[in-house]
Amino acid sequence: MAYSTLLLEIDDAGIAVATVNRPDKLNALNAEVIADLAALAEEVADTATIRALILTGAGPKAFVAGADIGELAAVGEASGAALATTGQAAFRALERLPIPVIAAVNGFALGGGCELAMACHLRIATPNARFGQPEVKLGLIPGYGGTVRLPRLVGRGRALEILLTGRMIGAEEAERIGLVNRVIAADGDLLAEAKATATAILAMGPLAVALCLGQVDRQADLPVDEALALEAVAFGRACGSSEKAEGTSAFLEKRPAVFHGS
Ligand code: COA
Repeated sequence: MAYSTLLLEIDDAGIAVATVNRPDKLNALNAEVIADLAALAEEVADTATIRALILTGAGPKAFVAGADIGELAAVGEASGAALATTGQAAFRALERLPIPVIAAVNGFALGGGCELAMACHLRIATPNARFGQPEVKLGLIPGYGGTVRLPRLVGRGRALEILLTGRMIGAEEAERIGLVNRVIAADGDLLAEAKATATAILAMGPLAVALCLGQVDRQADLPVDEALALEAVAFGRACGSSEKAEGTSAFLEKRPAVFHGS
């Protein structure tokens, strides 16, 4: 698949790196980027050889500096709602992939950029990464999931402070409040570290990984008893798998497990 705003590289281990490539506009999300991200989610879902996805931004300054403000200036009520629905669907498709999706945040992750990072399963950042939802400064609110995922990640009080003040927060604070999983060292290699995390996950049973991702996604807003019931079903699926037979045998035989595809 050819993308006009994304660079896609897939290594021999099946780790795909997708780079949002509009560095002159700090990788801002215009309609083309959103369409490419939706197509990317589809390609990844349909390609069994892609086993992990890393998202990052081109250039030294930005992961993604937000929705394209030039486009936003022109939308009204109905077209604004449609824009949000389209972007939300693209991000949700990435979030629902059954393989690990990791944001490698290499600079500004503002507005839609913060929202894209939050739709990923894990976030690893450089020390110069900056996060925020500055939409209120433009008389806007987040439209690609910011009001939904930020409170779930960092808690309602912290989320409201970030949403209402529009202030930018640094990588260290983002790590402290749980907005990112990890900040790498100043001399670290972000993509190498994101790939190392992906590689660690790829050594696990792929069905177990997919079941964890699906279960954590589905349970988020269910009452505890319903969420536990779903977990029991997913646990049963895992128990019935050849993957679990290999994992438990390997432990009992004191040898490393070798999972299909790993
Ligand atoms: N939409 C469209 N263009 C954007 C953009 C966005 N969200 N963010 C940056 N750009 C463009 C700038 O207009 C500029 O383009 P130009 O060179 O044609 O003038 C280019 O990217 C570089 O940005 P610039 O502002 O010059 O870089 P900076 O280092 O001085 O500032 C930011 C960086 C991120 C602080 C600043 O670009 C910014 O505040 N961007 C908007 C962030 C935002 O509000 N996002 C949420 C949108 S809902």
